[in-house]
Amino acid sequence: MTASLPAGAHAPGERLSAQLGLTERVLAGPRLRKLLGVVEAGLDEVEQSLARELKVTDALADATTRYLYEAGGKRVRPMLTVLTAQLGTGTTEHVIAGATALEMTHLGSLYHDDVMDGADVRRGVPSAHAVWGNNVAILTGDLLFSRASQLMAQIGERAIRLQADTFERLVLGQMHETVGPQAGDDPVDFYLQVLSDKTGSLIAASAQAGVLFSDAPEEYVQPVLDYGERVGVAFQLLDDVIDLSADAEATGKVPGTDLRAGVPTMPSLLLARASDPASRALKATIDDGVLRIADGADPAILDDAIARLRDHPATAETRRQAYAWADAAVAALDPLPAGAVRDALVKLSHVIVDRSS
Ligand code: IPE
Ligand code: IPE
Ligand code: MG
Ligand code: MG
Repeated sequence: MTASLPAGAHAPGERLSAQLGLTERVLAGPRLRKLLGVVEAGLDEVEQSLARELKVTDALADATTRYLYEAGGKRVRPMLTVLTAQLGTGTTEHVIAGATALEMTHLGSLYHDDVMDGADVRRGVPSAHAVWGNNVAILTGDLLFSRASQLMAQIGERAIRLQADTFERLVLGQMHETVGPQAGDDPVDFYLQVLSDKTGSLIAASAQAGVLFSDAPEEYVQPVLDYGERVGVAFQLLDDVIDLSADAEATGKVPGTDLRAGVPTMPSLLLARASDPASRALKATIDDGVLRIADGADPAILDDAIARLRDHPATAETRRQAYAWADAAVAALDPLPAGAVRDALVKLSHVIVDRSS
């Protein structure tokens, strides 16, 4: 058992530059410069708050909870909270606490997700379960969830409810993904609901938290919720495309992790729908490879199939769907006042579907 960062972990400076890269892309151009400064300052506060919350007393718990936090992350969810908070009184203490709690919830879900998906690399470092084993990885996730709830309790009842409702949906999404569609369910529709629940819920909550905890007008709640939910589905569809990416350096993950483990993704579901002989042969190769890998075969037996699925129309169609969800997210913003925040949310939806990590 080791409590230290493995070789290859990102230095804190690198993490910050990756995060600023995203913020700068979303808030590019002279019209958004003022908002860029405000969002950067807010994200710095969230970063400090996360660092504080992940340093308690127990040396082992501190090491395991800080492990994936220190390895990086794009901080998409805090950025959304800080951005929508500018529709109200700005980056209040409650906004920072809410953003911190939601990012900790996200972080905890990554510890659990890697156990469930058998993913050995996350944020460019060995996953927590690869370092400490499944039990410690699961308990670390639990610890992060409980600390997130404690933070929400400091804000008040609406925050507690937001956290509880969001977490319930996230868990149900993961559970439905695990058990798969039941008789009568359309696999693609079922999967879209999974994406909404496991990812859309937390991204929508992040957008909502900014409005709620900055005392912005109540009529902004529904538009940002709808925006977050849809942009979350777009985000997760792109994540499915990224799973097939050959660029492990950029993604910080092992290419084809989900596919090799038999975890459904939109490209694999759309491939299953295709009826031409080449697609059917590719599907048969993947199904056979998944079974053999589960029996202990070298995961590399699917390298070629992963490259073929990457270039298959099913992956292009997944990208197209992501763009459509991003467009629908933008349409939800209609009731918001025109201005820098709305422009930034539109830009964020574009950045999310054009990302490579
Ligand atoms: C990964 O989320 C898990 C999903 C819901 C797709 P991110 O892509 O936001 O992960 P980090 O925080 O940047 O590592
Ligand atoms: C992650 O989904 C969703 C949650 C952690 C709730 P994925 O399993 O698709 O995400 P990655 O690809 O491992 O980041
Ligand atoms: Mg996963
Ligand atoms: Mg998963």
